[in-house]
Amino acid sequence: MAGPPLLDRRLLIVTGKGGVGRSSVAAALALLGARRGLRVLVCEVNAQERVAPLLGAAPSGPEVRPAIPGVWTVDVTPEAAMREYGLMVLRYRTIYEAVFENRVVRYFLRVVPSLSELVMLGKILHEARAEERGRPRWDLIIVDAPATGHAVQLLRTPGALLDTVPAGPLRRDAQWMRDLLLDPAHTAVALVTLPEEMPVNEAIELDEQLRVVVGIPRGYLVVNAVPEPRFTAAERTALEAAGTEPPPLGAAARAAALQGLRAELAARQVARVRAAIDLPVLVLPLLAAARWDRAAVERLADACDQGGAPWARSP
Ligand SMILES: Nc1ncnc2c1ncn2[C@@H]1O[C@H](COP(=O)(O)OP(=O)(O)OP(=O)(O)O)[C@@H](O)[C@H]1O
Ligand SMILES: [Mg+2]
Repeated sequence: MAGPPLLDRRLLIVTGKGGVGRSSVAAALALLGARRGLRVLVCEVNAQERVAPLLGAAPSGPEVRPAIPGVWTVDVTPEAAMREYGLMVLRYRTIYEAVFENRVVRYFLRVVPSLSELVMLGKILHEARAEERGRPRWDLIIVDAPATGHAVQLLRTPGALLDTVPAGPLRRDAQWMRDLLLDPAHTAVALVTLPEEMPVNEAIELDEQLRVVVGIPRGYLVVNAVPEPRFTAAERTALEAAGTEPPPLGAAARAAALQGLRAELAARQVARVRAAIDLPVLVLPLLAAARWDRAAVERLADACDQGGAPWARSP
């Protein structure tokens, strides 16, 4: 079985608990898109840039820059996005500078946090609907979104503004942004988790929030870094017994027994999250990579391409 259709929506938002592998999954999916001949843009959101370096390229900073053939990256910061938005609305740099680089306005922007979120999201969604020579500028935009609570805050900004802001340009922007974000033909969220108790709890809560609070189309669940189950229950019992043998057998048997235990605990969490979240699931393997670099991300992309780890695909 081929696994979930990963790249069928133009806008793919990758989120999940901190540290679960959002940037790695975003980078792997970008590679996969490039392998399939797509023009891919990866947007990080005001982050310590990870994706371009993971692909073996220099960080792009706040401008869209080519990272590798087929993949461009950008780190969307509130300052740069605000500047672009201001220039778009006000049209002239001198007016922009007079208005936006004024100390009072800068203070205002800092204390109205949803405004920075709105302009960052605006920058991303602007790229998502940009056209060049009559066709979309990007075939695929992958957002390496912030972790759980911050992602919800970011994604619900247009909706929240629509509830509060009166008619005017800000409201019109919030409207088209929300329409694009909530359009299932256009947008999907990839929810990433690890096969561990706390990340799974957080994924279940996040999924509920994405559904109820944001209303955004959820595309699929990625369970990342799942250890391969190598041993049957009988083999694990035998390994435990062999653990008391003299070296080198005893030490090897104990290490193998531990690996078996970890794989079993992880499999339980995979089953738990599958049962709790009603989405197509992609299980990605825990990779024994000495360095977490382009080569590791290529292997992760291979696994995505094959519909997940071979030993974990749905029957
Ligand atoms: N499938 C995997 N197999 C082995 N190690 C992995 C895997 N996925 C991620 N890692 C490890 O986890 C680390 C964190 O991954 P990554 O930076 O992608 O997470 P993140 O969710 O983006 O984190 P942050 O919250 O800091 O943005 C990586 O540097 C890598 O060492
Ligand atoms: Mg990251």
